[in-house]
Amino acid sequence: MKKRKLIYQIYPTAIGSLRDITEKIPLIAKLQPDYIWLSPIFLSPWVDGGYDVSDYCKIDPRFGNMGDFRKLVSVAKQYNIGILLDLVLNHTSSEHIWFKKSERHDPWYKDYYVWLDKPLNWGSFFGGPAFDYNENRGKYYLHLYDRSQPDLNFCNPRVVKEFKKIIKFWTNHGVAGFRVDSANVLAEDALKSGVLPRISGFFNYYQTKETVAILEKLFCDEKIFTIAEPVGGEFMSRARFRELTRQAFDASFNVGTIDIADTFFSIKDRLYPVNYRKWFHTLAKWCQEDKFSLAIESHDTPRAPSRFHADPKTLAMLQFLLPCNFPCIYQGQEIGTKNAKLSNNIDDYPGVQSRMIYRRLRKEGKTKAQAMKHVRLTSRDNARQPIDWGEYVLQEANEKSILNFYRKITKLWRTDPVLINGDFHVRKETKKGVFDFERSYRGETYYIHLDLSGKTKSYCKNIDGGIVIANH
Ligand code: NOJ
Repeated sequence: MKKRKLIYQIYPTAIGSLRDITEKIPLIAKLQPDYIWLSPIFLSPWVDGGYDVSDYCKIDPRFGNMGDFRKLVSVAKQYNIGILLDLVLNHTSSEHIWFKKSERHDPWYKDYYVWLDKPLNWGSFFGGPAFDYNENRGKYYLHLYDRSQPDLNFCNPRVVKEFKKIIKFWTNHGVAGFRVDSANVLAEDALKSGVLPRISGFFNYYQTKETVAILEKLFCDEKIFTIAEPVGGEFMSRARFRELTRQAFDASFNVGTIDIADTFFSIKDRLYPVNYRKWFHTLAKWCQEDKFSLAIESHDTPRAPSRFHADPKTLAMLQFLLPCNFPCIYQGQEIGTKNAKLSNNIDDYPGVQSRMIYRRLRKEGKTKAQAMKHVRLTSRDNARQPIDWGEYVLQEANEKSILNFYRKITKLWRTDPVLINGDFHVRKETKKGVFDFERSYRGETYYIHLDLSGKTKSYCKNIDGGIVIANH
């Protein structure tokens, strides 16, 4: 039997408290996900939307308390849904007690983070240098993300042990597994050599052997579901993907597969036209990997229908008709949510990333209006807005709605032998936004024609010409 799981991602502030999320579980359950992945709910100063954790074993009061969490786990269980927590391993918040102690040179904690006498010339993912001076410690510390997100030193066995305890703590509270943030950049090779690398950084810490070994140590004796979020997807060869997922992970996103369509990395500070052909070829390649998790949206991307100028049903067909064992639906995707109408004032943006993009564009000489236009289009804050539950209810009642289409296509993905087992062939070179492919199994063949440009209708037909599913 193939291992296949459907994941549903929730960015919690977009729904509300843990109680609000629990209340919505019966609705979400109609898509029959195996897991709900919650973006971080831990105590956090919220500089990076929860990805800056100040205590991994406390729930941020904005979401409720441990009792609420237990309730959420048990209600989800009634619907056969496991809860996945988001484990931010690479860094903590600078408000974390470990960092407070480390900067004060506490003997136990002094090597919990990466401290250097001289900074290296690496750049951070959020712009600016990856090393900052810390007055208290009198040294430089590494932060691959914001300066308030110091990188942990995973070469220190005490740090690994801390996370073993954290993992146990949550599995004891009934979690079914974890999504692991920035999974492939935990250990930095170049730091050991002491030689200042000529290149600016990324290649020095991208999926080293140590990182894979640390992850395997962390997860090897747990019977849980684990899904990795590796950084720098476009650089990830399939060999590296296999190495990363070999033991530690059941599945892995390769974020580059979404970003390949129009951006470089996931730092959306440039506008590129959508390159559909390149995107499809990349997906076609990655879908051959058993552990590949296909997502078309996340809390880090603008909404797919706006980004790809495409019909939500056709996008759903792309995600669920390709041979993917671990598709991941991002909350609100199932009602075709588009980009939000975001403010024209950068001060209204909560996310570090939008501000970084704005600053960079202004520095490059763009006017305020030009910079804001860009931010509104590319910001990940687009995907973090409250879900429109009114629209959800309306769509429930409409047989032809996007929501009911999603329910139908996820059911097909789960039950249809051709979609479960079928071989995959690209039929012909794709035109702009048109993807033609086949799935075949035991004498049955599905012909799939997807047109993201909307010029022609999208359909999946069986060998006799009968419609299996179509967007019209
Ligand atoms: C990836 C997460 O998805 C993103 O939201 C976050 O900003 C970075 N990792 C840093 O944790």
